[in-house]
Amino acid sequence: MSFVEYRTEGHVGIITMSREKALNAINDQVLDDLAAVLAGVDVENIRALIITGAGKKAFVAGADIGAMADMPTDEAVKFGRKGNELFLKIERFPIPVIAAVNGFALGGGCELSLACDIRIASDNAMFALPETGLGIIPSFGGTQRLPRVINVGIAKEMLYTGKRVMADEALKIGLVNAVYTQDELMDKAMELANRIASKAPIGVRAAKSAVNDGIHLPMEQAIEVELENSGKGFGSQDQRNAMHAFMEKRKPDPFINK
Ligand code: CAA
Repeated sequence: MSFVEYRTEGHVGIITMSREKALNAINDQVLDDLAAVLAGVDVENIRALIITGAGKKAFVAGADIGAMADMPTDEAVKFGRKGNELFLKIERFPIPVIAAVNGFALGGGCELSLACDIRIASDNAMFALPETGLGIIPSFGGTQRLPRVINVGIAKEMLYTGKRVMADEALKIGLVNAVYTQDELMDKAMELANRIASKAPIGVRAAKSAVNDGIHLPMEQAIEVELENSGKGFGSQDQRNAMHAFMEKRKPDPFINK
């Protein structure tokens, strides 16, 4: 039995964290299952991924507290490293990843959403990094990604106090791009994923690499990263197709990722 389900709809892959009884909390097996699903994504054909949680209550309620309660320190560090390596893979996944946050996104769940390119949420979503209340700190990248996504002072307040941020506030502070009703969320996530999938995959992937690889560099180096990535699209069949279509005042043929 896997705690992570995967299905596809056209060019979109949908990953569902499926350990509903524990509000999709992440234990060692969940990390293994998620890694296996990611390794199986056909990145030639799939152009955007959505990650969401099973049920109506939780995206992911964090790392499994029961599994961690009596964990020796070295094992806890190993668990953190394993999660971190996996979340880094998501961040660097060649195609965009959208977190469709359908409820609690606490601790490791908030961190999973932060490893995604874009977060959208349902109106019952709640974000928090409650780890300091458990005597630890986030160990799946939360202390590093949250202050890179939102204002540092707000991130520190969330980290130091475990403050719960509801969907409307998450929108206000830029933690999510949009908020929808629970019923709308997956349709809106699919709409966004399909909008991404309608663009030339080479362009979208190059844009993701350019942002991720350049964002923390000094501008002189960052624009070099952009230039390296801009070279990926030029000369591709999709680029020729799209630009010739523009010149001929017609729609381009469907993109083929070549
Ligand atoms: N780990 C293990 N089990 C969890 C869990 C977690 N993080 N979150 C929820 N569950 C389990 C509960 O133990 C409960 O199981 P039982 O039915 O067997 O008792 C079930 O999910 C339902 O949860 P509740 O009964 O608590 O549901 P609720 O609606 O009353 O409360 C909640 C929901 C506010 C999310 C509450 O469950 C909660 O606070 N969960 C813990 C959240 C948390 O602290 N997450 C951070 C973990 S540390 C971390 O993530 C470290 C890291 O950086 C990697």
